[in-house]
Amino acid sequence: MLKAAISRYGARVLPNTEQIIAEHRRRGTLIQGPEIEAFEAAFAARAGVSAGHAVAASYGRMAFYYILKALDLPPGSEIVVPALTFWVIPELARVSGLKVVFADVDPATFTIDPDALEAVITERTRAVVPTHLYGLPCDMDRIMAIAARHNLVVIEDCAHALGATYKGRPVGTFGEAGFFSFQTLKPLNCYGGGMALVRDAALADRVRALAHAEPWPDEKRVTKRFFIGKLQRIFIRPWVFTISSFPILWLSSWFGANPDVYLWENIRELQPLPAQYIERFPNAQAAIGLEALKYLDAWTARTQAHAAFVTARLRDLPGITVPATPPDRTHVFYQYCVHGPEGPARDSLVVRCVRRGIDIETLHVDVCTEMELFGDACKPAPGAERAQQAMQVPVYSDLTDAQVRRVAGVVREVLSSAGSSGPATS
Ligand SMILES: Cc1ncc(COP(=O)(O)O)c(C=O)c1O
Repeated sequence: MLKAAISRYGARVLPNTEQIIAEHRRRGTLIQGPEIEAFEAAFAARAGVSAGHAVAASYGRMAFYYILKALDLPPGSEIVVPALTFWVIPELARVSGLKVVFADVDPATFTIDPDALEAVITERTRAVVPTHLYGLPCDMDRIMAIAARHNLVVIEDCAHALGATYKGRPVGTFGEAGFFSFQTLKPLNCYGGGMALVRDAALADRVRALAHAEPWPDEKRVTKRFFIGKLQRIFIRPWVFTISSFPILWLSSWFGANPDVYLWENIRELQPLPAQYIERFPNAQAAIGLEALKYLDAWTARTQAHAAFVTARLRDLPGITVPATPPDRTHVFYQYCVHGPEGPARDSLVVRCVRRGIDIETLHVDVCTEMELFGDACKPAPGAERAQQAMQVPVYSDLTDAQVRRVAGVVREVLSSAGSSGPATS
């Protein structure tokens, strides 16, 4: 029987999304309204901090930018960023007048290696950005100890990790500040937006003043954003995906093309800031976030159960390493990454999975130390380069149990043949 293909991405969607949007349109509160403050307060409460310490922004990256601006570090201060992250983050640090220095990551956890962090600190280093990449918290005890020794400000990148904990404490509450993303595929989907979580009240006020100084977006723009979100939702439904995007991936698998690169934002300098970054977070998106917070724990638990199922099916395969979650942390599996064969052998396995209807991703964030954009900051980062060889298996919350069994089954069969695999033929 012909089976629908399974997309690499699954957005977390509220069953009443359209009703929430329609209700705010009717009330005239699509852009401005009381849900923004209510969402900030609920978000802060979840993190165990008082209202006023969470500030909504147009993007997660802009929350980071406002935090940097509010910190007002001396120009030319050095900020340490993991070599493996979304390129926009170091670029915005550069735009803020800071000198970006990269530290390598541990390829087993995909997060910043504390030894590598310590090794790049100089007398000009003022800040570090531990990125809880793919949903796994960094080694926060060691990072906080290093930061305390060298008097560094810690800004946690929690874009992938809302809901994750380290020693029982939520990410984003360890450093001076943290920031979160509400982009469509992130743990909390508000069709865009972000949040800064700031420990010190005066610093939080400065971040708020910066965010509030931006203009409100117009209704047309927010309506378009919801429309695009709806299209994305439709296009990743298994059968729609099977007859729309999947054929492109399937054909690419025969021609050695890599269409993934077209999914991502153009890599470029962000000075001046792109116009779409400069706006306030609208009320209807806050209303969606406020409602989605009620579902977050259930979505996280489902994703974790899917990850556990896949791990149980793959862990005994020779040459395959399933994701390691240290016992003091919880992982929310924004991405589920498996290490196995690398280079052309890895690509060949991915192609085999795609041909059997399972869309496996290999490119999600960037090895920034290889990007021309970062000029002199580029240097070898073997951990990040290895980490980028992992295969990312879909485990998102929206998959049914049967789909997870199929994903695990196909990936297991394909990976079991890794030893015997030459060029892709099946
Ligand atoms: C690691 C990381 N940090 C930060 C961000 C920025 O989030 P936003 O797209 O909301 O600006 C992303 C976005 O994908 C990310 O992957």
